[in-house]
Amino acid sequence: MSNLKQGLFVVFTGAPGCGKGTQARILKERTHICHLSTGEMLRQFAEKDTPLGRSLKAALERGEFASDAMIIEMVKNRIAEPDCANGFILDGFPRTLPQAEVLEDMLAEQNVKLSAVLEIQVPDEIIMERILGRYACMQCGAGYHDKFQKTKIYGVCDVCGGTEFARRQDDNRGTVQNRLVNYRLLTYPTIPFFEARGLLKTVDGTGTIDAVSRKIEDVLGLRDDV
Ligand code: AP5
Ligand code: MG
Repeated sequence: MSNLKQGLFVVFTGAPGCGKGTQARILKERTHICHLSTGEMLRQFAEKDTPLGRSLKAALERGEFASDAMIIEMVKNRIAEPDCANGFILDGFPRTLPQAEVLEDMLAEQNVKLSAVLEIQVPDEIIMERILGRYACMQCGAGYHDKFQKTKIYGVCDVCGGTEFARRQDDNRGTVQNRLVNYRLLTYPTIPFFEARGLLKTVDGTGTIDAVSRKIEDVLGLRDDV
């Protein structure tokens, strides 16, 4: 008899700016499973004035990846926490083939089977516009866009009422180009890896935020009105 854990265990993958974080936050709101963004975790480390923090900050500003060993340790500890027991959305992990291989072993040890790996596909021209217009509330982290996702009241966060916003250090044209190169070189090989395991689902990420989230819910079998 199988004693696999029940729940929704998904990976969101795709190029920088394709909408992983936006869609993960929407899915979390709907399902209450945990949202684990390795990019967010690294940005928190990078704020610390320590040797590791400073070297991470520099790497992120250049659009370079953190080491597999560090990321794997971080994810391993995080998914063992109780709020991940009934499901998780991995946003930005795995990002290399070694990370994908370790994830497979890590989940097998915990009797977890991935429900799906969702690749959100968006062409490069759209990506640049999305990333360069992105900003977030400094108080609660809610994400916005100059053109595509404005606050309801100018200068006031819809979620917490905060009035201070920030843009990411790695959201400049040069760094985005490096992030895209690294995506193709290091992350793209994980796509056939998951396809070979029957887990890959591709989603066209070019519609509105609502349209893309409806597509994701369809693919995950979460919509009851279709
Ligand atoms: P990470 O933070 O994961 O960055 P990323 O993969 O480059 O992706 P982004 O967060 O930039 O984009 P997103 O897909 O989340 O898009 P979003 O929803 O915000 O990682 C940062 C860095 O950390 C990496 O470069 C790497 O160096 C390092 N790192 C992280 N994980 C690692 C790992 N596992 N191993 C090694 N290194 C790692 O959307 C973008 C904008 O578009 C927003 O403003 C949003 O409002 C808007 N938008 C979203 N969807 C739509 C839509 N449908 N229509 C219109 N606008 C939209
Ligand atoms: Mg993100």
